[in-house]
Amino acid sequence: MNNAQKIGKVVSITHPLVQHKLTIMRETSTNSQLFRTLVKEVGMLIMFEVTRELALTTREIETPIQAMKAPTLANENLVLVSILRAGNGLLDGVLELIPNARVGFLGLYRDPKTLKPVEYYCKMPSNTPTADVFILDPMLATGHSAAAAITKLKEMKPKSIRMVNLLAAPEGIAALHNAHPDVDIYVGAIDEKLNDHGYIVPGLGDAGDRLFGTK
Ligand code: URA
Repeated sequence: MNNAQKIGKVVSITHPLVQHKLTIMRETSTNSQLFRTLVKEVGMLIMFEVTRELALTTREIETPIQAMKAPTLANENLVLVSILRAGNGLLDGVLELIPNARVGFLGLYRDPKTLKPVEYYCKMPSNTPTADVFILDPMLATGHSAAAAITKLKEMKPKSIRMVNLLAAPEGIAALHNAHPDVDIYVGAIDEKLNDHGYIVPGLGDAGDRLFGTK
């Protein structure tokens, strides 16, 4: 990235609607259909806050009344990266907000022996050096795969990278911030801790399973 000196921040989106919807998502009794809807809605609400920081410029337009210099995004090269598979739960909603964003997909699994993230799929848009990249992953747990994803995305030398999560564990935030201090992290809520299986506590369980009904 261009901005090597920047120290990333952690932004917790405290909006009441985000918190209310997260509570319904957390409940065991919430079925996959409702869970999917809520992931989409919370993702849109969080992304609304994340994109608040995008720079504006102006361009000359003609309204039916007169000419004006109207605000427009300074950089329209926006790239969403879905971390498979749970990131796909956020993607459709975010694309409704930013319909001309381009989309990359990154698949990582954890090697059971080394416990390190291993890439199994990567398809990214081209022409990324001017891109503002938003990584979509509902859960920031240990932070290991998030850190690996960012390392991979930095190879594309984008203008900026932001991490977008619904829930995070303090351990994951610390690990990610340590590995990539220049990356801003946006979360719906920061929970208490990780359990021995790497799940966020109290969390919402396995986001992928709850989205896609695989358990
Ligand atoms: N991934 C999930 O889906 N849930 C967690 O709690 C941690 C990682």
